Amino acid sequence: MNHLLSIEDLDREAIERIIAQAARFAEVSDREIKKVPTLRGRMVLNLFYEASTRTRSSFELAAKRLSADVVNFAASGSSVEKGESLKDTVLTLSAHKPDAIVLRTPWAGAAALVSQWCGAAIVNAGDGKHEHPTQALLDVYTLKDRLGSIEGASVWIVGDVAHSRVARSNIIAFQRMGARVTVAGPPTLIPRGIETLGCEVRFTLDELDSADVVYALRMQRERMGDTQVPSLREYSALYQINARRLSPRQLLMHPGPVNRGVELSGEVIDSPQAVITAQVEAGVVVRMAVLYELLAGRRGPSSAPGQREPSTVAADEPRQLA
Ligand code: NCD
Repeated sequence: MNHLLSIEDLDREAIERIIAQAARFAEVSDREIKKVPTLRGRMVLNLFYEASTRTRSSFELAAKRLSADVVNFAASGSSVEKGESLKDTVLTLSAHKPDAIVLRTPWAGAAALVSQWCGAAIVNAGDGKHEHPTQALLDVYTLKDRLGSIEGASVWIVGDVAHSRVARSNIIAFQRMGARVTVAGPPTLIPRGIETLGCEVRFTLDELDSADVVYALRMQRERMGDTQVPSLREYSALYQINARRLSPRQLLMHPGPVNRGVELSGEVIDSPQAVITAQVEAGVVVRMAVLYELLAGRRGPSSAPGQREPSTVAADEPRQLA
């Protein structure tokens, strides 16, 4: 694997390999010294053109736990504000010879473009409304951890599917792992033709009871015009996941950040069925596994011919730093 641009690039076997590696790294996270030397001497550049709490912090932590050097770049406060283009910014920062670039932008397809401009491994950490593959991987990890197997499970993805890169990546990933996926929400927030991805579509929550897992999405007001929902109050009345709609045997997921009281009621967020915090925890080990998959054993753009490869830890035995 040279880049992680889309979840479509990963077949079931590759997803399972990354999840298994993440489970091995989970053991590292439980230690007092939460570090292995696997990526010592490698450099990971986090390039974020959009707001992020979970994704950026967990990529940073993941790289640091693997002993890589990390440079965090946020578009605000940078020369992007002076008009520097994505291409020029990438080429400028490539002078530091990053081995991997973790990229979040509001533009669909940007990660794929950047992968053609430089020698680093590119990880798509969200490109507009298009894809968010590491979110899908950490959600598969969380579900597998809770359910044992995803095979045959019914997953309902509820809410603002139209603006959600998480929805697109997760529909593909959950189905690849054997789940049946239904998307549900107001017709204005369900993209036409989404069923070509293999999922079912519902415009009401009348059959929500058939779900094993309810995956709620954030109402993405920053990407929405005025016309898509009459009001958040009306949306909540029809589609909010609350104690009345969620049955005690169902698991509740959400990628965060949550609009408390809009797509989820406070009581379900704080209920034992919610695995939202477990999703965040999974983010670190799954991103460690992705960086490991991309960089361990790969020659960095900075290594001269004949230069010795940095030592890597065998896949099945993460080691503590001496
Ligand atoms: C999501 C995103 O940015 O796509 N958040 C995340 O990465 N955990 C979902 C969202 O913003 O609603």
